[in-house]
Amino acid sequence: MRPDKLKLAHLPTPLFRHDALDHIVGAEVWVKRDDMTGGPEAGNKIRKLEYLLAAAVNTQARAVITCGGVQSNHARATAILARRLGLRPVLLLRTADGAAPAHRVGNLLLDALVGAELRFITPAQYQLRDALMQQLAAELAATGEPAYVIPEGGSNGLGALGYIDAMAEVRAQLDAGDAGGPAAFDAVIHACGSGGTAAGVCLGAGLHGVAEYAIAIAVCDDRAYFERRIEQIVAEAMQLLQTSLPHARASVLDQWKGPAYAVPSEDQARFIARIARETGLLLDPAYTGKAMFGLAQLSPKPKRVLFLHTGGLPGLLADSDRFENLL
Ligand SMILES: Cc1ncc(COP(=O)(O)O)c(C=O)c1O
Repeated sequence: MRPDKLKLAHLPTPLFRHDALDHIVGAEVWVKRDDMTGGPEAGNKIRKLEYLLAAAVNTQARAVITCGGVQSNHARATAILARRLGLRPVLLLRTADGAAPAHRVGNLLLDALVGAELRFITPAQYQLRDALMQQLAAELAATGEPAYVIPEGGSNGLGALGYIDAMAEVRAQLDAGDAGGPAAFDAVIHACGSGGTAAGVCLGAGLHGVAEYAIAIAVCDDRAYFERRIEQIVAEAMQLLQTSLPHARASVLDQWKGPAYAVPSEDQARFIARIARETGLLLDPAYTGKAMFGLAQLSPKPKRVLFLHTGGLPGLLADSDRFENLL
């Protein structure tokens, strides 16, 4: 039996194609617009949260605890959706020194607007995030407020089911002719920050015949870390479904991380600005911009590609200084 799922996202998300994008990237690129899964809560995280928040509701939680970087899209989506469901969001957010930022912009502004409890932690504390979240849940339970803990990025077996479902959605779109015919893509490609999307995609793309290859472009950590992580999440998902599933052939590429997490190189920032000007497609500096840049650089390149636009617009809006300098 499949775990319970809430209906939180606006689905199916459209497939977008633009001649100028094909030209810039050098392939036939179909963009799966998962940046349009909702309003301010949009992005890839809603598909995972449909399962994770169903579990929170089923366990009678009154608060939801999760974590991420200070501009975490996952933390923002969780906070907004938790409020929609009447749950109190508590966020552990990593900053360089563990202090609250002077200005609340982008994702952090949205977190604050929905009244999430914000706890800022250092990078060293963030290494212990799972233990910290469990400790916090125990403290809240002791005060009569049971809390459900969602791991970084919503990335576990349960969350990954959302991307198995997303691949079923793409298969239906292929069958309906939305991408020019029923033929599978050569590859599906997307940004990878905690591995849950990649795990769901490689299972779903194989199960539903969406693509032969799944390519995850790492934006932090490295290839070895994500290969391990994705394998663990895949195993968890199959255990939940109590079945073994066919996989697409998966690879993680880590050469387009840029100078640091959420910091694009000058070339990557210019690339994001060029795509915006020539196609009207807005990519973000932490995830989708780096992934599309990687696809453009990839050699040899798959011919017909499904690119997952996983969202991230608030992170772009929080980075205005960098982009103003390019205009
Ligand atoms: C906009 C965006 N794209 C891609 C990802 C990566 O997804 P995952 O965390 O499942 O690897 C994230 C989150 O980390 C994200 O916020």
